[in-house]
Amino acid sequence: MIIQNACHLWQQGEVVAIPTETVYGLAADAEQDAAVAKIFALKGRPQFNPLILHVHSLEQLEDYAEITPLLLQAAAVFWPGPLTFVLKRRPQAKLSYLVSAGLDSIAVRIPAHPIAQELLRAYGKPLAAPSANKSNSISPTSAADVTASFGNQIPLIIDGGSAAIGLESTIIDLTTNIPTILRPGGVTFEALTAILGEIQYAQAGAAVKAPGMLKRHYAPSIPLRLNTVEPRDNEAMLGFGSMDCNLNLSPSGDLQEAAANLFRMLRQLDNPVYKGIAVAPIPNHNLGVAINDRLNRAATPN
Ligand code: TXA
Ligand code: MG
Repeated sequence: MIIQNACHLWQQGEVVAIPTETVYGLAADAEQDAAVAKIFALKGRPQFNPLILHVHSLEQLEDYAEITPLLLQAAAVFWPGPLTFVLKRRPQAKLSYLVSAGLDSIAVRIPAHPIAQELLRAYGKPLAAPSANKSNSISPTSAADVTASFGNQIPLIIDGGSAAIGLESTIIDLTTNIPTILRPGGVTFEALTAILGEIQYAQAGAAVKAPGMLKRHYAPSIPLRLNTVEPRDNEAMLGFGSMDCNLNLSPSGDLQEAAANLFRMLRQLDNPVYKGIAVAPIPNHNLGVAINDRLNRAATPN
């Protein structure tokens, strides 16, 4: 009953809190831009941190990420469980680009908690889920923790008891030459070395603390020019609010809708037929802060 209720809510683009063995997550349908944008609005983060994609099996993952021999080796030992892999995202994956904050990679995990497993199987589509806490506060290990933060903001919080591990998953990036630990967690360095051979820690954890700074972070290949409503010759216009433009982040000026469209529309306009992309001003409050943060990074040449 609760399982069906959750699936119905996800289908409708709602956010539901779910238990996992590490910490509780704020889960939404990873294919729906608007649903993923809702997660960011709830978290109140000033940046778009990429989220973890939760799946029930390797078979399901095949549609979304590139499966490598190294992944299969590690997955056989550590999945389901508290380990997240960063993999190459499949170019054709039917995933919201907001899930991975515009990156070409995707962080994925098969959680071990039986309720999380049951939910993922019943829904059949992957769920994007960060830890169910507000930005800058501690990760939730019980349904009561989630209620304290989001009780009156989300339609359903599923109680799966207190989280067995109580610490977020270890994140290891398999897209680098030497697999790189981006976040320490439930699975140790030693346990990973035993299976993967040589691995390393990320430099001073920079990639995790500021994922927007990642070198691989998506930026269009043509220049971005911000805070303008007048495109120059051969510039594409990315609009906001009622205006003439090639694509509009939100004709009605809704920041949540704009966040949902941001990465997909930047990609759509990133076409050599244009000399650049002119972007309309975005109000700098609520999700607008994260949108502007991302736009400023994308506009700054490396
Ligand atoms: O245990 C966990 O992993 C929990 C449960 C709910 O599964 N989830 C969790 O999600 O801790 P979150 O959003 O709080 O942390 C995700 C971390 C972020 O620090 C983010 O920077 C990193 O994963 N991340 C996600 N996608 C990435 C990517 N493509 N490349 C590098 N880092 C990524
Ligand atoms: Mg977190």
